[in-house]
Amino acid sequence: METMEKLSSAALMELEEKYGAHNYHPLPVVLEKGEGVYLWDVEGKRYYDFLSAYSAVNQGHCHPRIVNAMIEQAKKLTLTSRAFFNDSLGVYEEYVTRYFGFDKVLPMNTGAEGVETAIKICRKWAYEKKGIDQNQATIVVCEGNFHGRTTTIVSFSSDEGSKKNFGPFTPGFVSVPYNDLVTLDKALSQKNIAGFLVEPIQGEAGVFVPAEGYLREAKKLCEKYGVLFIADEIQTGIARTGKLLAVDHENVKPDMLILGKAMSGGTFPVSAVLANNEIMNVIKPGQHGSTFGGNPIAAKVAIASLEVVKDENLAENAERLGKIFRAEMQKLVEAFPIVTLVRGKGLLNAIVINDSEHSSTAWDICLKLRDNGLLAKPTHGNIIRFAPPLVMTEEQLMDCVAIIRKTISEFKK
Ligand SMILES: Cc1ncc(COP(=O)(O)O)c(C=O)c1O
Repeated sequence: METMEKLSSAALMELEEKYGAHNYHPLPVVLEKGEGVYLWDVEGKRYYDFLSAYSAVNQGHCHPRIVNAMIEQAKKLTLTSRAFFNDSLGVYEEYVTRYFGFDKVLPMNTGAEGVETAIKICRKWAYEKKGIDQNQATIVVCEGNFHGRTTTIVSFSSDEGSKKNFGPFTPGFVSVPYNDLVTLDKALSQKNIAGFLVEPIQGEAGVFVPAEGYLREAKKLCEKYGVLFIADEIQTGIARTGKLLAVDHENVKPDMLILGKAMSGGTFPVSAVLANNEIMNVIKPGQHGSTFGGNPIAAKVAIASLEVVKDENLAENAERLGKIFRAEMQKLVEAFPIVTLVRGKGLLNAIVINDSEHSSTAWDICLKLRDNGLLAKPTHGNIIRFAPPLVMTEEQLMDCVAIIRKTISEFKK
């Protein structure tokens, strides 16, 4: 039997360059193994993961409990479609709705599908329950948002690169500045407003944390104007920010909650929209779905992933380590002019680099961090997001802080 030759990092990157569409610009490191907070490249070098696949791997890489749930289910039944019932979905639906405190869930796969689903439910609710005239429903979104990559979602993006030459765009959205209640009030008071779609912390924009009270007041405004408050917690949810949900910091209960990423601990695409009956019941058979949405593997994996979050106290760990991390980064801000700011909540943090948004400085720092054994990625030319798996120990975190400090102290533009 022919043995497969092991390819080097350089050869593997070349394959992607030649045969893959260039829709990403990855940091040059080729990974082949993950365990907990660690990743290994094909040459065997070990790194701390400080991105967690954009917060999908909150439970740590290849968590044995989640992987076992996936393997056991994969050996038995993988997919029935929703043409038939299966013995996993209902059990998961009961589990997840109780876990987050909603009447019903609509299961999907990717985050963008979750957002699309919420938009569709919101519009349908607007026509059937709120009485908005046909095709007039409008959803208020925030400038700097990131909700995914579908045509409808990029229609209300303010990021030029996400939109350019992808038009014509879907109408029915108006954009307001993030963290601005006065403008939000004005927008929500207009005719035909159905929903307000918001990230509790804007992750991709550079980990922008709104002022204390913004979410609470925004929810009150939604109640005042009879508008659905839709929280996109795909990145912020599931213990990342130090609470189960980022809205929990302000005791806000969304009318619709969108989850993805860490719903599976990064093992499988699992997303979900949660809402109470008066909203979710507008969806009837045949009106929305997905062949893979709610498949038996996803159901089992999601239960295991959510159990791990509770059993291993990941929210508490994120809250505690996040405070230590920001205090340590603040020391860097004070010691090195190249770092101007640290911000974040729990273990979703970012540092701002003293350079322009279009510079390559943050990227160059990430290359040095990689050389020193830590993987992070810029969100902009001057912002680096730091989001390690939430299973990290304090000792590991301090090891990472030492790597970041060394890298920053040695960095020359
Ligand atoms: C807040 C938010 N919403 C939606 C998405 C889209 O999720 P997906 O990439 O799984 O489609 C992301 C992905 O980064 C996100 O951060």
